[in-house]
Amino acid sequence: MTIIEDIIASFQQPERLKKIVRATFSGPRDATGSKVQLKPVALKDGMYVQRVDLGKQSSKTRHIALEHIQGELEELFQTYTHCFLRLEEEEWYAEARRDGHWKSQNWKGKKKRLKVPYTADLAHNRKKKHLLEEGVIVPSLVALDILTKEGKVKAQAAAKFKQINRFIEIVSSVLPRFQDSITVVDLCCGKAYLTFALEYFLRTHYPHPYRLVGVDQKTEVIATCNHIASTLCDNRISFVQGSIADFEPDGPVDIVIALHACDTATDIAIEKALLWGAKAIFVAPCCQHALNAELKKEMCPVLFKHGLFKERFASLLTDVMRVQQLEAAGYSVDVIEFVDPVHTPKNILLRAVSVSAREIH
Ligand SMILES: C[S@@+](CC[C@H](N)C(=O)[O-])C[C@H]1O[C@@H](n2cnc3c(N)ncnc32)[C@H](O)[C@@H]1O
Repeated sequence: MTIIEDIIASFQQPERLKKIVRATFSGPRDATGSKVQLKPVALKDGMYVQRVDLGKQSSKTRHIALEHIQGELEELFQTYTHCFLRLEEEEWYAEARRDGHWKSQNWKGKKKRLKVPYTADLAHNRKKKHLLEEGVIVPSLVALDILTKEGKVKAQAAAKFKQINRFIEIVSSVLPRFQDSITVVDLCCGKAYLTFALEYFLRTHYPHPYRLVGVDQKTEVIATCNHIASTLCDNRISFVQGSIADFEPDGPVDIVIALHACDTATDIAIEKALLWGAKAIFVAPCCQHALNAELKKEMCPVLFKHGLFKERFASLLTDVMRVQQLEAAGYSVDVIEFVDPVHTPKNILLRAVSVSAREIH
């Protein structure tokens, strides 16, 4: 079966259809600049596929009965040159070969298994199902200007809200390992959007005692965070001002988070987490300059001739070494895409779970 036949079959088999998060057709052969998104929807009289044609000025939505889906897909494969299909646990990508005319063999493709699954949403109103739902009033996120008082996501915070949800989705994957209580330390927490969101998620979804501590060097930011924590979060979360290198917890630490910690602060966070014996570590590295400064052009003239290549290579190598360090320390590491790269270029997250913690639960 070719990848195209496989994609068409996925839309025809009810069990596979329900696992489709989204299919996107792009790269129109006639360069109209539009693209098409498909997703399964459950309507009153059964399952349909929702088709949204995204034009430059406006978009058009209609629902396709399953008996017509094959013809519809064949038309899309004739009109477009790229198809991306996200299932709950896999992503497929297909691309038309140069010869153009549609035939399933004229497409090549690949499939990628996802370590952190997505959840298909069969609601027809296109509202994405998030772990923190829009409309739910989370007081700390209202205070942080992410939500309005009515719980709506503020327009300028939409990408942040998406990132918050993806982060909670990733962290929630390890929570079943902690059956008694949990202490989370967020190093370089900044304004602590993610820490506060996680606190709310734990409050509403984690049935055991929990504590969160955020650490950052910015005095004013920490004062604001502590004010929000004491007024809106029953002090289940607290913040410490200072360098993360100097921070010492007052008890065992289960999870260490360091998201977009500047440059080598990510490495300090990893060192601390290892020292404290954290069972899970989540780091999303940020700007990485240290290794770049060590690499000299003459070490590999072909690769380092252009500054951008050198910088990207140094970043990648830095992350590879962090993975090696964590694995050597007895962690199983996944390298995960944090959010769509359109929202931020700082998109890689390392999720490390201590192998002994994996065995315990
Ligand atoms: C880009 S922000 C990230 C904030 C937050 N983690 C997030 O992802 O939204 C980086 C933060 O790291 C803090 N930071 C950098 N190096 C630090 C250090 N050595 N000790 C404490 N804070 C540090 C900065 O003050 C800043 O607030």
